Amino acid sequence: MPIRDRVDLDWKSLPFGYLKAGINVRYVWRDGKWDEGVESEDEYMPMHIAATSLHYGQAAFEGLKIYEAKDGRVLSFRVEENAKRMQHSGRMMMMEAPPSQLFKSAVQRVVRANQRYIPPYGTGAALYVRPLLIGTGSRIGVRPADEYTFLVLTVPVGPYFKSGFTPTKLIVDETRDRAAPQGMGSAKAGGNYAAGMCGTMEAKSKGYGEALYLDAREHRYIEELGAANFFGITPDKRYVTPKSPAILRSITNMSLRTLAADMGYSVEERIVPVEELTQFAEAGACGTAAVITPIEAILFRGKEIIYLPDGKPGPHCTALYNALTALQFGDAPDKYSWTEEIEV
Ligand code: PLP
Ligand code: COI
Repeated sequence: MPIRDRVDLDWKSLPFGYLKAGINVRYVWRDGKWDEGVESEDEYMPMHIAATSLHYGQAAFEGLKIYEAKDGRVLSFRVEENAKRMQHSGRMMMMEAPPSQLFKSAVQRVVRANQRYIPPYGTGAALYVRPLLIGTGSRIGVRPADEYTFLVLTVPVGPYFKSGFTPTKLIVDETRDRAAPQGMGSAKAGGNYAAGMCGTMEAKSKGYGEALYLDAREHRYIEELGAANFFGITPDKRYVTPKSPAILRSITNMSLRTLAADMGYSVEERIVPVEELTQFAEAGACGTAAVITPIEAILFRGKEIIYLPDGKPGPHCTALYNALTALQFGDAPDKYSWTEEIEV
């Protein structure tokens, strides 16, 4: 069924920001099981003052987008992978995570409840879905909670970096580490993002979009941005992206590796020495929020490595962006069955 009574928003100029969109759904794990969940219009939740998420950072989240196709179908993209990653985050922080079936049905439920907020096809906007998993049981000794809340909210969004498919500049931040080699980098832990705020804000204060982090052991290898993975494209058509236990396993990057191989790139997921930055013809930030954000230049040890002298996206990032978004918006045949229709 097509979307009914869509809200009136300026869809083409939506920021990537919070706005109150209808309904969120909340499930509680208590006494060894998940409850049926409730739909709520409330933007607040009462919580025990000794909840483990508040004191000890037992908190993880996910991010995925829902797209309206040209024919009015509502499509999700690789939700199963988000479910698996939340389970991984849960294991890393000793939290009970929702099984994949519950995760998927919660996403479908919240999308259905907020169908009026799904941005129209052709505006470039999407409905961002933010699943959150937090320890809500009380503890003062440091140990896992006995109660968890799984909450899913949605917000219609535009692009994360500036306006649309526009290049951004990065700073290689050698003064901070995002995540330790055997630490929490592969989890989508709330604390990783708190730890990245200084770097992002400092980059922004200097006129750059984001910080690019190096590995915390040797500070020699590229890891990722505060909120996206990194890839570089060499002049001889190699798609090069860092492999590290400390980075988030980006679903966008996974998808791009497959699409890039289909498009004739050779794909290298490996340790990437920071000196290689000078060898790329183009570079990109990729993630659900970032989609692909082409990188105009990277400041490294006081000198800018410039990829896009005219400030316009390059042909490689453009081709990859078009291939990915065509699939997500249902414009291209989905030969890997990455999209799934949600009946609204
Ligand atoms: N890396 C970090 C640190 C992120 O926050 C994100 C965003 O989700 C990504 C990478 C990209 O992951 P995905 O493509 O699954 O959204
Ligand atoms: C996403 O791309 O979903 C992210 O999680 C980035 C976000 C922290 C803004």
